[in-house]
Amino acid sequence: MYNLLKGKKGIIFGALDERSIAWKVAERAHEEGAEFVLTNMPAAVRMGQLNELAEQTGSEIVAANATSVEDIENLMTRTKEIFGGKIDFILHSIGMSMNVRKGRKYTDVDYNYFLKTVDISALSFHKVMQLAMKQDVMNDWGSIVALTYSAAQRVFPNYNDMAEAKAMLESVARSFGYHFGEKKKVRVNTVSQSPTETTAGSKVDSFGNFVAYADAMSPLGNASAVDCANYCLALFSDLTKYVTMQNLYHDGGFSSTGMSEEAMVKVGEGILK
Ligand code: NAI
Repeated sequence: MYNLLKGKKGIIFGALDERSIAWKVAERAHEEGAEFVLTNMPAAVRMGQLNELAEQTGSEIVAANATSVEDIENLMTRTKEIFGGKIDFILHSIGMSMNVRKGRKYTDVDYNYFLKTVDISALSFHKVMQLAMKQDVMNDWGSIVALTYSAAQRVFPNYNDMAEAKAMLESVARSFGYHFGEKKKVRVNTVSQSPTETTAGSKVDSFGNFVAYADAMSPLGNASAVDCANYCLALFSDLTKYVTMQNLYHDGGFSSTGMSEEAMVKVGEGILK
């Protein structure tokens, strides 16, 4: 351990169970000396698993639906009370599509679900930053990270309306990153992660094939959730103070690879068809 986040305080959204990327971020941030508030939807908090993580990391839990301005307002107020002051980092690790959950195809989406997807998975990021700015929660030179996927740039047919949500999420990071940078020197970035076996990830149709294909196509292989957590920590640390408004790929090289030898061999062997 490097004490990379010693003295830093933050908010971590989106730890559901131990497979969650946010869960790994919380564990690693704790090991690196950070203190943080854990937050998730009231229903997810009621499930109780988050208590384990809170105990393990000495954290408090504040329930908040990330689509509710009121809930986020309360979360920011409570966080300031808990720490007796401002914070240094926020992780937004939230995604959900009812169209994916209900098996609606992209060409046959339900538009109420579509709006919910965008609200939960993208607009929530704007809401979090707007409230953090209004309530002056962030210390100067703080860092805010959201998790995204490269379906924002390229087509992955089963990713459905989450592709549009991720494109908006990345755009919000750029736009808000400009304003937060000007005002408070706070940096805002998105991390574009490899497919990862989590609750949200495995809702994508044929997810196992998706993971295997990405792994074969990435010179370094798929990045794990723990490695993603490590990258987020680096972005929360003072070692990345001038990185902002970026979409940063954490995908073992997948996004820059047209074809890999491994994938070609597997196609030849009939393993990948
Ligand atoms: P996860 O299912 O463990 O986490 C998703 C979280 O979003 C859950 O904790 C859930 O309770 C929370 N959430 C859903 N609706 C919410 C709401 N209204 N308010 C507050 N929280 C809400 O899955 P995972 O994979 O850890 O997802 C975290 C982030 O990583 C998501 O943004 C996801 O799109 C992104 N990501 C995941 C990849 C994967 O293959 N698993 C790949 C690239 C990005």
